[in-house]
Amino acid sequence: MSKPALSARLRLAAAYVRQGAYFADVGTDHAYLPVFLIQAGRIARAVATDVREGPLAHAAATVEAAGLTEQVRLLLGDGAAPLAPLGVTDVALCGMGGELICRLLDEAPFLRDPRVRLILQPMSRAHKLRLYLSSHGFCQEDESLCRAGDKFYTCILAHYTGMPYTERDAEVYLGRSILERGKAHPDFSAYLTYYIGRLSARLAGRRAVGNASPREERLLLDLEALL
Ligand SMILES: C[S@@+](CC[C@H](N)C(=O)[O-])C[C@H]1O[C@@H](n2cnc3c(N)ncnc32)[C@H](O)[C@@H]1O
Repeated sequence: MSKPALSARLRLAAAYVRQGAYFADVGTDHAYLPVFLIQAGRIARAVATDVREGPLAHAAATVEAAGLTEQVRLLLGDGAAPLAPLGVTDVALCGMGGELICRLLDEAPFLRDPRVRLILQPMSRAHKLRLYLSSHGFCQEDESLCRAGDKFYTCILAHYTGMPYTERDAEVYLGRSILERGKAHPDFSAYLTYYIGRLSARLAGRRAVGNASPREERLLLDLEALL
């Protein structure tokens, strides 16, 4: 029986899945997450979905090699919407762009249920996802951070409340929980420095063409004050 090892990035997501959850992994590709969770005794069953046949075949191979074909249901489909009738409790959308995750949340109204736990791991444009969550009434309960080489990954734990809220720009761009924990996390200073570097470069480009953004200039000052 094979036991796939989880990357630090996927370990962030795994940590948010509840004991005994009926877990769904949307955009599963290799199905490492559901297989890991079952092998760790955290969950008994899972659904793994993907929109493309190739990744789903990849998932099927992992599930078969782990001897878990009875426990992991594989589903070919677009986003989370095909899961609506299944009664899943914890849903992961990991390793996709932030804007794609927004679209998939939008197209799956059954996720607007406070009992459903959402585990969201954007690979890009995380700020768009955080803005979507706050403006559509999804509480961001927590957000975790890891570093792999020179890359930083974050994972958001969310659920629906129906109550929209606003966040400061620093929270939108870096994640409220990550800011609250601050330097208690060993990679926080490096994460902040990385983000300040990107923002400074963008602002330098804007200033050079006379298109400075006062809002981004303020954000830069806020972030520098946190260092
Ligand atoms: C980079 S892989 C991430 C795999 C895994 N979730 C992880 O985090 O390592 C992204 C996967 O999402 C799938 N995907 C993209 N759009 C999707 C959609 N609309 N519905 C379901 N899966 C989708 C892709 O086919 C691909 O297998």
